[in-house]
Amino acid sequence: MPISLTVNGNPATLDLPPEMPLLWALREGLNLTGTKYGCGVAACGACTVHVGGVAVRSCQTALGDVAGQSVTTIEGLGTPAALHAVQAAWEAGQVAQCGYCQSGQIMQAASLLSETPMPTDAEIDEAMSGNLCRCGTYPRIRAAIHDAARRLQEV
Ligand code: FES
Ligand code: FES
Repeated sequence: MPISLTVNGNPATLDLPPEMPLLWALREGLNLTGTKYGCGVAACGACTVHVGGVAVRSCQTALGDVAGQSVTTIEGLGTPAALHAVQAAWEAGQVAQCGYCQSGQIMQAASLLSETPMPTDAEIDEAMSGNLCRCGTYPRIRAAIHDAARRLQEV
């Protein structure tokens, strides 16, 4: 039976198995390839998306479990013309190196800031500890989260 949900503000109906990981439903069912596969076991954060505004690992979230819910991916966080504050801070701070982990990092950071608008270094490190970066961009990630927090205060 097809599964209906909202993805990036738009209704979506997917005729895919309910046990399929949300990651693959997004990438292969909806061609939203900004969400990345890293480990498949909820250990790297590359696949992070929001469900109801909260960061989840889409590789370990079954499609059937998000039926009727609102999912946001990196493609829906902002637009090229109106970047989300986290995306704008990432761009200003030139955070990305190879870029592979960065959509997950941004989604995790946006979730953090929605719960903790002005996080300390320690709160950032704790919230981001499950998002790995092989390129070691952690110092720039932390700086960009502080920048994004300031930008959000100005909105
Ligand atoms: S691919 Fe999901 S946490 Fe690594
Ligand atoms: S920027 Fe390369 S893995 Fe993070």
